[in-house]
Amino acid sequence: MQIIKSIDELKLTIDKLENSKRDIGFVPTMGALHSGHLSLIRRAREESATLIVSIFVNPTQFLDGEDLESYPSKEESDRKICEVAGVDILFMPSADDMYSRDELSISAPSIRGYILEGAKRAGHFDGVLQIVMKLLNLTRADRAYFGKKDAQQLALVTQMAQNYFLDCEIVACEIVRDEYGLALSSRNAYLSDEEKNRAYQISKSLKRATQLVLSGVLESQDIISEMTNVMSDIDIIEYISIVDRSFNQLDKLEIGNSMILVAVRVGGTRLIDNIWI
Ligand code: PAJ
Repeated sequence: MQIIKSIDELKLTIDKLENSKRDIGFVPTMGALHSGHLSLIRRAREESATLIVSIFVNPTQFLDGEDLESYPSKEESDRKICEVAGVDILFMPSADDMYSRDELSISAPSIRGYILEGAKRAGHFDGVLQIVMKLLNLTRADRAYFGKKDAQQLALVTQMAQNYFLDCEIVACEIVRDEYGLALSSRNAYLSDEEKNRAYQISKSLKRATQLVLSGVLESQDIISEMTNVMSDIDIIEYISIVDRSFNQLDKLEIGNSMILVAVRVGGTRLIDNIWI
């Protein structure tokens, strides 16, 4: 595995790839890798001749007061995980190399980029799209892999690829959970054991929602109030939202075309999760 920190070196390395290696799969991450990231990496490995993973804690997607400075970093174990997973190039650029002063910016769409996560974290998706655009251009990826865990991010990146006619397929990957159902996240590292126990109520509420739907309950309000009951020990429920796959709010859940999205705070930690129904 080649660890590359400079943009010039990345360009040179990709330029030099043999023709048979020019089918490039790419997994962008912010590091502190866990089995969720690994599932993307494994899938990309299976489907690609060359596999690039990036680790870059992107400053422009963090809002003031968020955890940019304290975002978990595990450089040593991240390298090992990538090595073992058969990554060809681990790209770890610096913020100074990725950004210049007074850049042009990419704006997330005014509705889909500013509801739900975009409403709670205004401007977050502008930063995500800006860095993903840069990384897709640098890596010349044929396919880039994103988790359904960040459903709105996945939708917006897919839209960007369409709107800007990018020659890159955006591949959606399933959510990986721990044995009790908690969706894996680098931010789970912030949870104490007691908080983790309470955080299990998030996936329990999504399971309960699935049961309700299977028993014929489709009214969003009914599902949301039952989910709220299940999450009785969660400190703050920021939102529970039932939307279609284009992120339009649904009064009535449509089987095969819906997502239930949840954002909560447990102690000081913000967690998101969702289920596609
Ligand atoms: P990060 O949070 O590190 O996540 C990198 C990728 O891993 C994202 O596509 C995310 O959806 C996926 N992922 C995280 N947890 C997952 C889980 N439990 N199951 C499946 N996939 C999971 O998302 C980002 O970084 C950044 O916004 C980034 C796209 C790298 C841009 O900076």
